[in-house]
Amino acid sequence: MTPTFGFSVVRNRFEFSDECKMRCHVWRQYSSTASILIFLSLNETTLLDPDRATTRFKGRQDLFNQIETLALSSPPPILLLYGGRRIGKTSSLRYLPQKMGSDIIPLFVDMQGLQADDPRNFVTALAQAIQTSARTTRNYNLPPIDAEAVRRDPFPALQQWFTEIEQVIDRAKRILLCLDEFERLDRIFAGDQIHAPLNFFRNVMQHRQRWIVLFSGSTHPDDLQSHWNDCLINARSLLVSYLDDAAARELIRQPIPDFPDIYDPAAVERILHLTRC
Ligand SMILES: Nc1ncnc2c1ncn2[C@@H]1O[C@H](COP(=O)(O)OP(=O)(O)OP(=O)(O)O)[C@@H](O)[C@H]1O
Ligand SMILES: [Mg+2]
Repeated sequence: MTPTFGFSVVRNRFEFSDECKMRCHVWRQYSSTASILIFLSLNETTLLDPDRATTRFKGRQDLFNQIETLALSSPPPILLLYGGRRIGKTSSLRYLPQKMGSDIIPLFVDMQGLQADDPRNFVTALAQAIQTSARTTRNYNLPPIDAEAVRRDPFPALQQWFTEIEQVIDRAKRILLCLDEFERLDRIFAGDQIHAPLNFFRNVMQHRQRWIVLFSGSTHPDDLQSHWNDCLINARSLLVSYLDDAAARELIRQPIPDFPDIYDPAAVERILHLTRC
């Protein structure tokens, strides 16, 4: 097999929009049937945007069903989503608003992206991220958090703000707070400081029946630092693994709409084998 890298081979056959920023690695496989194996990988920095990616997101229906069932159960458990790097955790979370029924309000927070280096900054940034998510996913205008109260005592202020949120959001609905890259908390809160946010989230889960907290990260539950044990003791772990067979085949054959039918069946099988789907 002679590997050649670049866009030119595929550009002649179909167009990518610049916005897609997809990167193609092309291996030309010279075999008796002269088949061409093309392996596409998405740009590592490009997340699928649910508003624009249309059918580019594949599969994961089992995961969505599981999350929805658990979120609507009584009482709902804490959820711990985990899986290897680049497996699709963040993308799946970003699709929750489209995949969940209207009874559930998913709020997505990218903990990695929070501009926070102390408890006050953290609470302010968390509240802003929740506000933005509520507006963009379910069109809720949440009140701003009381900045003066945050300055005085950040986590009680956050508790008070959650109470205000409950007054804005229809009583029948469940609020699914998704904290992506939750391990970042260990870097924002050094030493004993970590207990303040963990106690806060534990309190939310124990006393606010309409809230479900979903922690998402790449650390296996058994490898979490010991202070997470109390917080996640009854958490329901959900593994995000490889796409199932049907979704993987679709991703290969139809990664984007109108992708031409370019694969020999044997090439599809080979890609599935190499990617362990
Ligand atoms: N179900 C899917 N269908 C199609 N493409 C997907 C799917 N899930 C993820 N991807 C693509 O795979 C890449 C990695 O996904 P994502 O960033 O969601 O993984 P991750 O598990 O959150 O990674 P990390 O551990 O680095 O945060 C992204 O570019 C995304 O566009
Ligand atoms: Mg991620």
